[in-house]
Amino acid sequence: MNKKPKILATGANGMMGCDIIPILESEFEVLATDVDNMDIRDPEAVRAVFEAFRPDWVLHMAAMTDLDRCEVEPEIAEAVNHIGTRIIASACAEFDVPLIYISTSGVFSGRKNTPYVETDIPKPQNIYGKTKYKGEIAVREILPKDKWLILRAGWLFGGGPQDKKFVGKIYKIAKQRGSLSAVDNIYGSPNYTVDIGNLIIYLIKNNLFGLFHVANTGWANRFQIAREIVDIANVECVVEPVPSEFFKTKAPRPPMEAIENCRLNEIGYQMRPWKEALAEYLKRLL
Ligand SMILES: NC(=O)c1ccc[n+]([C@@H]2O[C@H](COP(=O)([O-])OP(=O)(O)OC[C@H]3O[C@@H](n4cnc5c(N)ncnc54)[C@H](OP(=O)(O)O)[C@@H]3O)[C@@H](O)[C@H]2O)c1
Repeated sequence: MNKKPKILATGANGMMGCDIIPILESEFEVLATDVDNMDIRDPEAVRAVFEAFRPDWVLHMAAMTDLDRCEVEPEIAEAVNHIGTRIIASACAEFDVPLIYISTSGVFSGRKNTPYVETDIPKPQNIYGKTKYKGEIAVREILPKDKWLILRAGWLFGGGPQDKKFVGKIYKIAKQRGSLSAVDNIYGSPNYTVDIGNLIIYLIKNNLFGLFHVANTGWANRFQIAREIVDIANVECVVEPVPSEFFKTKAPRPPMEAIENCRLNEIGYQMRPWKEALAEYLKRLL
């Protein structure tokens, strides 16, 4: 019997990891690591894991993802999102392993009126976006072109109990309260973790490399997404539109974070519409 190829995953206990690891397990022998057993800031620890496991692929999801925490603790954000990625990319170079780095639509300035494409120039506005973009640059600097995939995700949802982001929060609030407020002047592309997992398998099998935007199709503001959640979950809750200034946040939010998957379109790979993916996810939670 043929042995499965091996993939080393970082940040595997997070929202994305929870959904993606079981998908990867259908095709790979997976080593799921997180901060407790492989802190990506520690080059020796990373090297030891590479040495022992000898992966064929690395999926790098580990990051400091709390935007407001990144703003008040920029040195930790830099150490994890930038330097940690540099350490992972260097280990990949040393062991000659291709790397998949999960980046973000938050690398853009947000000044555009239409969704960002892969050829648009990043100009991040907050510490999270800046450090994730430095991670992208590190991957490109350290590895040859046929050894990296950078996948820019949109606004992620998924992970069930691990979902501490917008969809998870709104779903819980909507079940508990009769009304809620959601911002209607910030746009993004909702993105189901499971769909990214299936895409990763496709990209690996088809030997594809480079930069890809990977969101579900369509875009929306938070208010529209909240209304969709309330409708699908069939709960009695009034959703009130508010401007972004209504919620005081430490990190500035770019007004436009939506992305278009131009490169995926070119190769004929279609992500499904976000509403369809959201409905499937909420059915799973209900
Ligand atoms: N969430 C989104 O909307 C979104 C959108 C676009 C792109 N992304 C990117 O997608 C990836 C996965 O995001 P996610 O939502 O799954 O994030 P998440 O739930 O915050 O998971 C990230 C994981 O990385 C771990 N981690 C933090 N510091 C680490 C370190 N020094 N060494 C090893 N592991 C460490 C975290 O552990 P602790 O929880 O203990 O810190 C957590 O388990 C990230 O790279 C993120 O930048 C996320």
